[in-house]
Amino acid sequence: MAGFVAKPLEPRLLATAQEIQAETHADIGSDHARLPRYLLETGRVRRVVVVEKNQGPLENSRRALQGLNAEVRRGDGLAALKAGEADSLSLTGMGAKLMVRILTAHPARIPPRIVVQPNDSAEPLRRWALDAGLGLLNEQMVEGFWRYTVLSFGIGEGSAYRGLPMETALRFGPILLRQKHPLLKAELYQQRQRLRRLKPVARVRLELDYLEQALALLEG
Ligand SMILES: C[S@@+](CC[C@H](N)C(=O)[O-])C[C@H]1O[C@@H](n2cnc3c(N)ncnc32)[C@H](O)[C@@H]1O
Repeated sequence: MAGFVAKPLEPRLLATAQEIQAETHADIGSDHARLPRYLLETGRVRRVVVVEKNQGPLENSRRALQGLNAEVRRGDGLAALKAGEADSLSLTGMGAKLMVRILTAHPARIPPRIVVQPNDSAEPLRRWALDAGLGLLNEQMVEGFWRYTVLSFGIGEGSAYRGLPMETALRFGPILLRQKHPLLKAELYQQRQRLRRLKPVARVRLELDYLEQALALLEG
């Protein structure tokens, strides 16, 4: 489209894109729509449905996706999506608690594959998936402006948590722990430093216990 220049994809969105291969993909809260545009241009998906709640981002998405096999809808999360309409769904660049609110609002409309990239701790999303009976299929950690986690969930229980201390795995990521991921290690060293500077009240001591358990797995 004349006047529209797509920026290169950031590492967090590139990692998200690597998890997606579908006939129809839904991206909720697209704004600049760099991810759905990349998915269409690289042939990872054939069709995209974008849902945007706010007018400015909605116009950004429409501009970015003009001329491509994409439909941009105004709506609140999955309310704008029909059950069975998409094969996969992504949520990126928001807080995990907002993502969980969006996902729990219309459970029947959740496609069989979900990819999320929260801007903060992924723990609420791991807990949501467990409650929803979705298996954790993959976890990636990438460095960009911050460190980001990208998680893929799919129908079925999966075995990601097997053999690991559950609470620690839910907090820090069973797949990242098994991989002894260097970015998770770096993140946990920083968190430990921050916690050690706090008054050692019960909550801080408990968080330090889980963190030490995760570091023992990462360093073992
Ligand atoms: C911070 S931007 C992230 C944009 C892009 N996904 C990314 O990762 O860079 C969050 C976007 O989600 C949209 N949004 C927030 N809540 C939403 C909801 N319930 N339904 C649809 N869009 C929503 C906002 O309007 C905004 O454009």
